[in-house]
Amino acid sequence: MKKDLLCIADLSEEEILKLFTLAKSLKERRKRGEKIVPLLFGKVLGMLFRKPSTRTRISFEVGMFELGGRAIFLTDQNLQISRGETISDTAKVLSSYLDGILIRTSKQEEVEEFAKYSEIPIINGLSDTYHPCQVLSDYFTLWEKRELKKIKVTYIGDGNNVCHSLISGADKLGVRLSVVTPKEYPPKKEILARVRNKKRITLSHNPCDIRDSDVIYTDTWISMGAEKEKEKRIAVFKDYQLNKKLLKKAKKELLVMHCLPAHRGEEITDEVMDAPFSIVFEQAVNRLHLQKAILATLLK
Ligand code: CP
Ligand code: NVA
Repeated sequence: MKKDLLCIADLSEEEILKLFTLAKSLKERRKRGEKIVPLLFGKVLGMLFRKPSTRTRISFEVGMFELGGRAIFLTDQNLQISRGETISDTAKVLSSYLDGILIRTSKQEEVEEFAKYSEIPIINGLSDTYHPCQVLSDYFTLWEKRELKKIKVTYIGDGNNVCHSLISGADKLGVRLSVVTPKEYPPKKEILARVRNKKRITLSHNPCDIRDSDVIYTDTWISMGAEKEKEKRIAVFKDYQLNKKLLKKAKKELLVMHCLPAHRGEEITDEVMDAPFSIVFEQAVNRLHLQKAILATLLK
């Protein structure tokens, strides 16, 4: 694997499948009661969060602990970045103390700049463009249940960071993916331009195009940073809600996914979130196992 994990497009199918196999083994060892697997004994991960987080922060922090290392939680407020120190200077200094840095921020370019000026691995914990750790963990969740090359996944909602990573991941893993968004909020053209297998990734604006899907995935209509557009977005997205009525058209063995946090009553209703075919909390659980695999691979 490359030094950094900035986006899924940087990984090969083989590297992704290796992460899945390692995550599965770490998951099994934890289930057997083997809480500490000291692959990263003495290593320290810096975690810079310039946006809020529940799952990513806690699962990476616990993941480092369970691999025998530790994590330091950093925010703008307690770093000199808040007083104008540049990203490149910060990256150079931090990389002389730490063994890896996880960063959650708005601009993908900032994550890339960190990687450019660091000697140590940089992990993208979400930017406005990508959410690779989430989506690797989501395809891991599906890989445990289904043969990836045989399923069709539909993403319905905003053409956002999660959608972009789902597109890159589907392209790498040979998953058929249909992306259903309002015409005002499609995925970015440059992400689609990087897709190699264009026949397996299709776009639509029609929410009824879910009929032959094995999996339906949604995410918030109002990502972090888009709060000012809340009312406008709710009006545009209202027909794209994952609700019982829409799912009447879906397959019987359907699985429903969401990266969380969910905005119940907006992009997904309670009855769908809490249905037996919803695997949203299983996805959240798997963040820990897959992230441990990422850490063990990049920081060892
Ligand atoms: N799905 C996800 O990344 O959740 P957090 O924002 O809570 O980290
Ligand atoms: N698209 C969402 C994902 C949150 C995990 C956001 O960027 O806020």
